[in-house]
Amino acid sequence: EMGPEEKAFQEKIDAEIKIEAKNWMPDSYRKTLIRQISQHAHSEIVGMLPEGNWVTRAPTLKRKLQLMAKIQDEAGHGLYLYSAMETLGADRDEEIEKLHSGRAKYSSIFNYPTLNWADMGAVGWLVDGAAIVNQVPLQRTSYGPYSRAMIRVCKEESFHQRQGYEILLHMMRHGIQAQKDMVQDAINRLWWPSLMMFGPSDAESPNSAQSLAWKIKRHTNDELRQRFIDQTIPQLELLGCTVPDPDLKWNEERGHYDFGEIQWEEFYEVLKGNGPCNRERLETRRNAIQDGAWVREAAVAHANKKQKQQAA
Ligand code: ACO
Repeated sequence: EMGPEEKAFQEKIDAEIKIEAKNWMPDSYRKTLIRQISQHAHSEIVGMLPEGNWVTRAPTLKRKLQLMAKIQDEAGHGLYLYSAMETLGADRDEEIEKLHSGRAKYSSIFNYPTLNWADMGAVGWLVDGAAIVNQVPLQRTSYGPYSRAMIRVCKEESFHQRQGYEILLHMMRHGIQAQKDMVQDAINRLWWPSLMMFGPSDAESPNSAQSLAWKIKRHTNDELRQRFIDQTIPQLELLGCTVPDPDLKWNEERGHYDFGEIQWEEFYEVLKGNGPCNRERLETRRNAIQDGAWVREAAVAHANKKQKQQAA
């Protein structure tokens, strides 16, 4: 049985009225949001690492500038999302500590390596492309600060997606055979992990039913995965590439692409910390915090000195 507060809360949700930071909300709604927004923020921050790997090796100055701009956008998304999370009463340092000690999740996709320059195109096109499909509906999520954060994030993600696709199109149209092979190789490695970004199948997704009722999520994991495949395959064909799925086929009756079975064992192994780069990613984050400690200490010492001078 819902109490009067919870009933009023659900009525607001049903009427598409946003929930704001100071409004009453059930504890479990708050907890679910802190979980999802913190995981999302961690994903943006860890997501900088596979791309950071290529900044010093970008083929031209223009490509280097684009890549740096994209990585900076992702840092911004992470900080923006941590702020949205703080409006729910969560502590940023505590949540980041959970990430660094391996107790918090972040998107599985960032535990795969980026092995050649075409990966920078494929990450932009597929990974940011999947992120957009997931995040465009989150602009209508029921929690106000999260939904507003998503508006700006989606604008930037769509620039990322296009610049990634343009890298691949350029390599396919103007590259030598070895460069075209790099594009196909990047797609072969990143295709299935990109599909896994949408989360487990609906039947195996413990959080979906409640999150849909609260309109934190607006579509199921499988719906969004299908939408991503349907909109990506025509782009793949324009590139002149293929995906490593022999079962991929347009289904006239359904009006959607059919596709093969996802290797869920691999997905759950990555979630447990056993993906190809999980340990390296967390170690890099921990080192970054450690290496920056002297800067934070110096800033505090400077602020204290200033304060004393002013008091004197
Ligand atoms: N990688 C890591 N963990 C995942 C993934 C994934 N690809 N997909 C699902 N999970 C986790 C969920 O976080 C959940 O974990 P928890 O309950 O232990 O906290 C568990 O697997 C079960 O999945 P669901 O019940 O389906 O979880 P949920 O309802 O949260 O749906 C989803 C998962 C779709 C990712 C949702 O959280 C979401 O939309 N998040 C916001 C978008 C986001 O985080 N994007 C990050 C990648 S995009 C980018 O950063 C560029």
